Amino acid sequence: PLDQRVDSLLAEMALEEKVGQLTQSNGIGGEATGNTKNLVADSALYELIRSGQLGSILNEINVTTVNEFQRLAVEESRLGIPLIIGRDVIHGFRTIFPLPLGQAATWNPEMVEQACAIAAREARSAGVGWTFAPMVDIARDPRWGRIAESFGEDPYLASSLSAASVRGYQGDDLSNSDSIAACVKHFAGYGAAEGGRDYNATMISPSTMRNVYLPPFQAAVDAGVATLMCGFHDVNGIPMSVHKQLLSNVLRGEWGFEGFVVSDWDSIFETIEHGSSKDERAAALAAAQAGVNMEMSSPCYRKNLTELVTSGQVSETTVDELVKPILRVKFQLGLFEQPYTEPDAAKILLSQEHLDAARKVARQSVVMLKNESSVLPLDKTILKKIAIIGPLADAKRDQLGTWIPDGKEADSQTPLAAIRESAKNNEIEVLYASGLVDDLDRSTQGFAEAVATAEQADIVVLIVGERANISGEARSRATLDLPGAQNELVSTLAKVGKPIILIVQAGRPLTIGKQIEAVDAVLYSFHAGTMAGPALADLLWGIESPSGKLPVTFPKSVGQIPLYYNHVNTGRPPRPYDFAKDKRVDDDFDVELGYNSNYIDVGPYPLFPFGYGLSYSTFTYGDVELSATKLRSGEILAVRVPVSNSGKVAADEIVQLYVRDLVGSLTRPVRELKGFRRIQLEPGETSVVEFALPVSDLGFFNNDEERVLEPGEYEIFVGGSSLAPKVGTLEIVE
Ligand code: IFM
Repeated sequence: PLDQRVDSLLAEMALEEKVGQLTQSNGIGGEATGNTKNLVADSALYELIRSGQLGSILNEINVTTVNEFQRLAVEESRLGIPLIIGRDVIHGFRTIFPLPLGQAATWNPEMVEQACAIAAREARSAGVGWTFAPMVDIARDPRWGRIAESFGEDPYLASSLSAASVRGYQGDDLSNSDSIAACVKHFAGYGAAEGGRDYNATMISPSTMRNVYLPPFQAAVDAGVATLMCGFHDVNGIPMSVHKQLLSNVLRGEWGFEGFVVSDWDSIFETIEHGSSKDERAAALAAAQAGVNMEMSSPCYRKNLTELVTSGQVSETTVDELVKPILRVKFQLGLFEQPYTEPDAAKILLSQEHLDAARKVARQSVVMLKNESSVLPLDKTILKKIAIIGPLADAKRDQLGTWIPDGKEADSQTPLAAIRESAKNNEIEVLYASGLVDDLDRSTQGFAEAVATAEQADIVVLIVGERANISGEARSRATLDLPGAQNELVSTLAKVGKPIILIVQAGRPLTIGKQIEAVDAVLYSFHAGTMAGPALADLLWGIESPSGKLPVTFPKSVGQIPLYYNHVNTGRPPRPYDFAKDKRVDDDFDVELGYNSNYIDVGPYPLFPFGYGLSYSTFTYGDVELSATKLRSGEILAVRVPVSNSGKVAADEIVQLYVRDLVGSLTRPVRELKGFRRIQLEPGETSVVEFALPVSDLGFFNNDEERVLEPGEYEIFVGGSSLAPKVGTLEIVE
């Protein structure tokens, strides 16, 4: 019946109306609630809608305006086709959750699903039917600012969170009043931008594209994602907006994607700048033939597609095929039945339930990187005075992170405010000095006050990092130091001699080895959202143990990038990695290393490996049982491991399963994540974690883009990070 509805509507549509459905335009802006601007003032947009020449609007969340746009579309246009309203609901709508990179640090798909469901409920209440999320671009380069919006470097973790996000946004049924259509982006390989410079060209081999960059997209398609956005970038010389092989052959042909593809902002037009299209007409032709259904912002389709059809260069059937999935999604969203939004947004935005959920996600997103002499958690019964210092301690906007078009600075609860609040009952005095005006401040004028404040206190909580808007789109960095004079602030305070807890809030990994050496404990928090402050306070006081694990490798130095755990070995690997013995800071040249793949100044190894994170408790892994030592394709390996909480407090552990294919027709990664499980354990409690690893998961794509499963030996590793010890070997036989 859905296809019938689509076909019968399509049969009534004039060519211009079809092209209209393929066109998306920016709205007129405004707040979610409150007065709308005078629509008639924007008569161009008004006319486009009335004449059926617009299928979608983005960036319009004023409910009154949205309803008025819908009224124009539904009641005044000839066929009454509703608009679909898109918005960047990236990590929350009004209630802001941690950055996606922070959400990835939770390794908790159920919680990510819940966060997306809350974001969807809030957004739909404001008339938004479609989010441009999740962004699932694999990010192996922390210079790339959009790493903040990613789920990190690993295809398995990102795929699992990609599917969870789609389930969260879309629910079981898109027509539910709290579901919105998801849009998985930016297809494909956008994170591989050369040098980490946003929008830059990418060179990706067929096997790397298939094994590393495509899996999270396929996971979203398998989860039923309604839409997909292609990236700004080019892949091996072909801009993604005209990349027929990936957009048509792979996405629709192989994966059976039935939703629609939207371009990125002006990206069809930008194929001219790429030097791929001669003019707007050629750009429209190439994008339509590649299979881009809807053009965001630029007018190449609107101005050229009708003529391209009448001149015979594009068949009307091609246009029909582009229109159909857009109509299908609009039907699925129930927009024909209920195009309007009740103007009651304010009722559910920032509800207590949503804030509690945001606090929970924020707590699990923080990764503890150091806790010398168990200085954390803070002991409320002993502490009398605590000094909160640092430019991010009370920076409301910066708690929220990048891409929060509907988040409000005023809602943000800072660490300073939360620690003050939580210290009240125990009569602990909280002193405060920012030390620097903000994170970019280079002057040391505030240092004297910061030192005096630290001197008066029993302990210092120093909150540093990157402001929200130096990560995200177009925010690539060539250096990854703490900006401004923050390094000097850390070293100056370290000389005071008080214990220092360093909290780093950032949109990416930073090269902070020296700063970590100078302090006693480190909590790494990707911008954690509206409830960042209360969540950090909960962790400081030990209300919950830190449990996040790194979703990306932390380099010691920018020169090591790209640095990721699932690399291939080379013919000359460096000495085996011993994290316990490896120095956090390598200052000296070591020219005695031999002729290995290495850096003589900083070594080849990271500051912290993928999957790493500490807890207030300790975990002991028992003997791992593998159900078999030899298996064939089609069979499943069961891996069972008892994990005990051997510490004194209840805590979560993230148990990780890795494999290594020892010999392959292509050189194979030294490790690949194949399973993970977050478990909660009381002190003394043991839980047996079971993984079912299908042998087919050990296959990979070769450079002919064929998926192969090769007989031979596979090593199995189980533990609490990507340095997990080897627990056995599996042989795959034919
Ligand atoms: O969704 C975004 C995309 O990630 C970057 N360009 C603009 C789009 C819409 O705002």
